[in-house]
Amino acid sequence: MWVSRRAGAVPGSVFALMDAAKGRARAAGRGIIDLSIGSSDRPPPEAALEALREATRDPATYRYPLFSDTLPLREAAAAYLARRFGVRVDADREVLPLIGAQEGLAHLLLAVTDPGDTLLLPDPCYPPYLGAAAVAGLNVVTLPLLPERGFLPDLDAIPDDVRPRALLLNYPNNPTSAVADAAFFQEVAAWCRARGTLLIHDHPYAELTFGAYRAPSALEAGISGVVELHSLSKTHHLGGFRVGFAAGDMGALAALARVKGAVDFHAYLGIQRAAAVALGLPDELGREGACVFEARRDALVPALREIGWEVVLPQASMYAWARVPGLTDSVGYAVRAAETTGVAVSPGRAFGERGEGFVRFALVQPPGVLVEATRRLGTVSVQGENALPTLTR
Ligand SMILES: Cc1ncc(COP(=O)(O)O)c(C=O)c1O
Repeated sequence: MWVSRRAGAVPGSVFALMDAAKGRARAAGRGIIDLSIGSSDRPPPEAALEALREATRDPATYRYPLFSDTLPLREAAAAYLARRFGVRVDADREVLPLIGAQEGLAHLLLAVTDPGDTLLLPDPCYPPYLGAAAVAGLNVVTLPLLPERGFLPDLDAIPDDVRPRALLLNYPNNPTSAVADAAFFQEVAAWCRARGTLLIHDHPYAELTFGAYRAPSALEAGISGVVELHSLSKTHHLGGFRVGFAAGDMGALAALARVKGAVDFHAYLGIQRAAAVALGLPDELGREGACVFEARRDALVPALREIGWEVVLPQASMYAWARVPGLTDSVGYAVRAAETTGVAVSPGRAFGERGEGFVRFALVQPPGVLVEATRRLGTVSVQGENALPTLTR
């Protein structure tokens, strides 16, 4: 079968390898602790589920949703941005519902770039960024995210003659869990404006913040020339519902709406209603969910430090990013660890070259399970020989 160069260019996923390793561990009778996927294990807000249940009984929701039908969600998104970040957007032209941030990003790249354009991407990054860039035929220039810079990119290191069409960032960050402040976004937005570069900020962890820390929006640095992608997958635990929104530059969003018009018909109206309800809920409800992840962080990080792994205490996100002393093959290690201990983590290399030597933990299990996972991982040699190859559970 002939397949397109575009399809062939999408990088294969290390997660398929991990899946196979988990399968082998299961077949060997090991109990699996899966910390390899950042899918929230928390329930969505009851009010959102109720809105969806009610919608399924309303025949007006059964037809194709048109753009005009998305107004309540667009208005709820605009109200959320105003309440939470003090950002004012026009619900008609500066907000667009998405079928998740990942869908939005892939189509946004098709809408604002041409094949061969340059896209600046962080390394490490959320792997689907590379796939979306490949589908759009883009020339990817990577920006190293280094621990000594707090995993923030160094824009001064980019030569003056590089004129990227877009720069894609994500804070709170997956996989490093690093955060950025409002001053950082001001600087980045100014840099982008000077080069005619669209700033795309992927913001699915906006509300998964710990302690007194609150994540800013890139839109606080201006609406023009910036597009921010929001998701209800993590903030409201609605990952399976596939819903989010884009907000920002009206020209970019008009182009995105055009591309999406050729591809999809918006999310089911009931899901849009559930999302609108969720976005309007008091912020304290979101804090309760975030506290659950914070307690897990507080259990995992000391346990990791006890086995000698280096990890910065995350202020946000649902991940811990640990540097493992002596680790040079994170994929081999993660596969071996899953097979021999049943603990599945994400190898840092899956997120890019700069991820080598690291392992990512998704905080998707209770504190005690995270501590037990760490104990098991500590038995696996980073060099290849398993210290305890015959663990049975
Ligand atoms: C950085 C980042 N962007 C986007 C997504 C996916 O968001 P959505 O479920 O809204 O497509 C994820 C999911 O893990 C993510 O980590």
